[in-house]
Amino acid sequence: MRIEQGQVAVVTGAASGIGYGLAEALAARGVHVVLSDVQTDAVERAAATLAAAGATTLAVAADVGDADQVGALAAATIDRFGRVDLVCNNAGVVSRPAPMWEQGLASWRWLIDVALLGVVHGVHHFVPHLIRQGGGHVLNTASVGGLMPLPTLTPYNAVKHAVIGLTETLDLELRAVAPTLGASVLCPGPVATALSETSRANRPAGARTPDPTDTLADRAAQRGGSVLLPADVARIALEGVEADRVHILTNPETAAGVRARVEALLADVPW
Ligand SMILES: NC(=O)c1ccc[n+]([C@@H]2O[C@H](COP(=O)([O-])OP(=O)(O)OC[C@H]3O[C@@H](n4cnc5c(N)ncnc54)[C@H](O)[C@@H]3O)[C@@H](O)[C@H]2O)c1
Repeated sequence: MRIEQGQVAVVTGAASGIGYGLAEALAARGVHVVLSDVQTDAVERAAATLAAAGATTLAVAADVGDADQVGALAAATIDRFGRVDLVCNNAGVVSRPAPMWEQGLASWRWLIDVALLGVVHGVHHFVPHLIRQGGGHVLNTASVGGLMPLPTLTPYNAVKHAVIGLTETLDLELRAVAPTLGASVLCPGPVATALSETSRANRPAGARTPDPTDTLADRAAQRGGSVLLPADVARIALEGVEADRVHILTNPETAAGVRARVEALLADVPW
């Protein structure tokens, strides 16, 4: 999909990190941006910052794990702008690193509610508008951890695999409706964001989060791998949407892990 001035985009998890990076990159291209996040004050500040730089923005507080709140987000978007062209289902959280058998069920349910059903809710409430308009694109944020094993992070690993799988199918379904519709899945490697901190701030009772000092980005840096900035990820994401790419990978170092997983899978195919 071409990204053009005057279009309307929605970004969940837009108060910080990759979501804010997407909102900023879209605003810089003249796209009207609906910023949504569960953190009410932070998302209002983020929208105000972009508006002060000349963007047209709307801040909507919503918990993506709550279908009704995502429905209200869609209604607010259509009410304000009359349409939506790009839906970025980006909000996510991460649980405390531990082997699968030590991951608590509260953490599993939270990851499924936010990082998987959050995407489902976005598709459910926004895609009918895209179809009615006859065009538009869905950009779901997964992770390269959805393309390979991710020891100690099974809840994150599982929901990101699910988001990649559902996006591949959604893209085929949308393209069968019209060639002007489509979906992409963003698969970043390590990015310098506050994911551990925001997860801790937003967690429900019983769910466990990483120590504040233990970030995916820090772990990557310790291994000598590169850590991208949200602005870099946003730029690559928008290029990927414009290229109609289904899988949008951002960190070159992650290629070896993806290849190893695909090759291991192919090696197990007995025919
Ligand atoms: N940081 C990384 O290394 C990395 C790598 C791959 C994928 N990702 C993915 O990128 C996405 C964005 O994360 P980030 O790294 O920018 O972290 P971040 O913490 O900066 O952004 C996540 C945002 O989601 C919001 N959020 C949390 N729960 C929510 C809910 N229930 N409803 C609405 N909003 C909610 C948070 O308040 C926060 O603003 C996530 O899906 C994450 O899994 C991150």
